[in-house]
Amino acid sequence: MQAQLNRILEEAKAQLEQASSHAELEEIRIKVLGKKGQLTEILRGMGKLSPEERKTTGQIANQVRAEIEGMLNEKFEAAKKAAKQAQFRLEKLDVTEPGKAPTLGVKHPLTITMEEISRVFKNMGFSIVEGPEVETVFNNFDALNAGPNHPARDMTDTFYITEDILLRTQTSPVQVRTLLKQDPPIKVISPGRCFRCDTPDATHSPMFHQIEGLVVDEGITMADLKGTLDSFAKQLFGTSTKTKFRPHHFPFTEPSAEMDVSCFKCGGKGCRVCKGSGWIEILGCGMVHPNVLKVGNLDTEKYTGFAFGMGVERVAMLKYGVDDIRLFYENDMRFINQFK
Ligand code: DAH
Repeated sequence: MQAQLNRILEEAKAQLEQASSHAELEEIRIKVLGKKGQLTEILRGMGKLSPEERKTTGQIANQVRAEIEGMLNEKFEAAKKAAKQAQFRLEKLDVTEPGKAPTLGVKHPLTITMEEISRVFKNMGFSIVEGPEVETVFNNFDALNAGPNHPARDMTDTFYITEDILLRTQTSPVQVRTLLKQDPPIKVISPGRCFRCDTPDATHSPMFHQIEGLVVDEGITMADLKGTLDSFAKQLFGTSTKTKFRPHHFPFTEPSAEMDVSCFKCGGKGCRVCKGSGWIEILGCGMVHPNVLKVGNLDTEKYTGFAFGMGVERVAMLKYGVDDIRLFYENDMRFINQFK
């Protein structure tokens, strides 16, 4: 029995020498000192010994147990320390390391332009309304007095979804929606996306943005149109800006005009931006055609109105000196970041 005890001790020693993790040590502890462990088995068998033998064997067994326990405790301590060190290494934080600054997003130049234009009109008492990009042919053409033979209805200009549904080619259908929904006085602008079947080049894009305006009330005249749009031009391009209205044609206005502003770059002397003319075309406008007012069931003897529409890309290109419309859609941060 004593020889067995010695073997257990030697074996345990050898195993403990190898072991380092808590789990390994625990395994050894159970194997030797556990309820069914080697040492426990031996102590259990001591009942069969003579009292003499029991005494000496008991003493040796106790020594062996104490020795193994001592080694185990030492090893457990070491394992605990090592685990803690490993944990510390894992959680190590360099508090002197400089922080990583997050990259802040910037507003897109078209958003900036749209917000600037909207702000000017909001300050003049306009409210903002929106309409869908997928429109009816009726709202986009018929109701805007563009008869079935109007050139804009040609398949080459318009993305049709079905015979009656299309991607709006202009923001003007929001005029129709507003007239159907709201009674005068009406004083709204409507910014949004438009689509035309154009091949992209420096000045064309199949998707672009417009801002539409509509004012309807009793006694609205061409003087209101000119006063409002002249004031808008001065607020957007500077107080010394002059405006000029040239006759034009749109199906939904009569009379119709285009508004030019004196070149904000050269002040009217003539430069690259205004192509030498001193003037820059900015928007289309006119007095709302009675046929359009009738869509809203309005008494055209009592109510009159004016409307206008402008291209956001065009204004942004002029304001920021951008010479290719496609730059707006590439979202190259080297371009976008210039408008911070
Ligand atoms: N919808 C026209 C276009 O896309 C722009 C326009 C011109 C809108 C005159 C108007 C307007 O409201 O009165 O070319």
